[in-house]
Amino acid sequence: MDDHDSDSAFATLMRARRFTAPELPTEPPSGAALAAADRASRSWTSTQAGPLAIGSQAHKRETCRMFLETFNPYRPSVIAWPKLTPEMIERVTSLPIWDIAVHTESRARLRFASYANAVADPDIAGAVMLNAWEESRHKEVIAALVATYGIKLAPEPPFKPPRDPQWAYLLTGHQECVDSFFAFGLFELARRSGYFGTELVETFEPVIQEECRHILLFANLVAWERANLPWWRRIAFELRILGVWAYIAWERMVLARSLSPKGHGAGQDANFTASTAQSMSAVEIDARDLIEICLKENDRRFAGYDARLVRPTFIPRLARFALRFIKSRKPRPPAAADRLESGPQNL
Ligand SMILES: [Fe+2]
Ligand SMILES: [Fe+2]
Repeated sequence: MDDHDSDSAFATLMRARRFTAPELPTEPPSGAALAAADRASRSWTSTQAGPLAIGSQAHKRETCRMFLETFNPYRPSVIAWPKLTPEMIERVTSLPIWDIAVHTESRARLRFASYANAVADPDIAGAVMLNAWEESRHKEVIAALVATYGIKLAPEPPFKPPRDPQWAYLLTGHQECVDSFFAFGLFELARRSGYFGTELVETFEPVIQEECRHILLFANLVAWERANLPWWRRIAFELRILGVWAYIAWERMVLARSLSPKGHGAGQDANFTASTAQSMSAVEIDARDLIEICLKENDRRFAGYDARLVRPTFIPRLARFALRFIKSRKPRPPAAADRLESGPQNL
C-alpha cells in the first residue's frame, strides 16, 4: 500500500460513516482570526449546570460537544511557513522525528476512522471521525513543513484499516497519551530555546494543542464506556486496556533496545523523546528537568477545559512517581533553576 492507497482507504472510511470534512477558510486568516481560533481551541466550558456524572448521557454529549466546539479551522495549504536561518533549517531537518511523525498520523487516522465506523452511537462516531480527520490534517501539515524545509522522508510502510477497531482505538489513544505528554515538554523546550525561531514554533502550536484535545476526548470516552458496561463486559474491557499498556511497554522497550550502542535497526526514528530533548535546547536537559517541564505543560494545556471532564491521569501520575527516584544529574544553583522556569529567550 503506498501513500495513495492509505489516502483512499481513509476516504472510504469517511464516506462509509457519511462524514463531511469541515469547511475551512480558503484565504490565509488575519491575525485576529488566528488568535480567536486559538482561544476557542484551548478553552471550553459546558453550558450544562451542575455536576456532570461520569457515564451519564450528559457526560457523553458534552464531551463530544467540547470536541466539536474547540475545532480549529486552519487550512494546512495556506500556512505561511516562516523563513528560517540556515542554522535553524539544519536543526529542523536533523530532528529525528519526521518519519515517525508522518507514519504515526497516517496510522492513527485509519485506526480512529475504523473505530468511528464500528461504534453505533452517532455523537461518539462523529467526534472520533473528526479526530481521525484532524490526524489526516496533521499529516498534511507535516508534509507541507517537510516540503518547505527540504526534509527527506523514508517511504511510508503499508497501513491498512485494523481488523479489530476497538483494540486499535484503545491502543492508539493510549499511545497518544504517552506521546503527547512528552511532546508537550519537548515543544516547550523548543519554544524557550529559540532554536527554531519563535514563528515556526507558533505555526506548529495548533497541532500540539489538538493532541491535547484528542487525549481529552479519549480519556472521557473511555471513562464513559467503562461506567456503562455491565460487570462481566467491564472485566473484558479492563483486560484489553491492561493488554494495551503491556503492548506499549513492550513496544517502548524494543525501541529503547534498538537505541543502545549494540542495538540494530531503526532506532533513530523511534527515539522521539530521549534524543530529541537535547536537540531542542542549548541548556543541558536531564530526565528530571524534562519530566518537570512535561508535567507543568500538561497541566497548562488542560487548564482551559471544563474541570468536570476527566483528564488522562496515568502518565502524569507515573511521571510524578518517577520524580521521587530521579535526581538531577547536575548541580542546580537557584539561577539555573530560574532559567528553566522562565519564558522565551535566546540561548
Ligand atoms: Fe496527530
Ligand atoms: Fe491525535
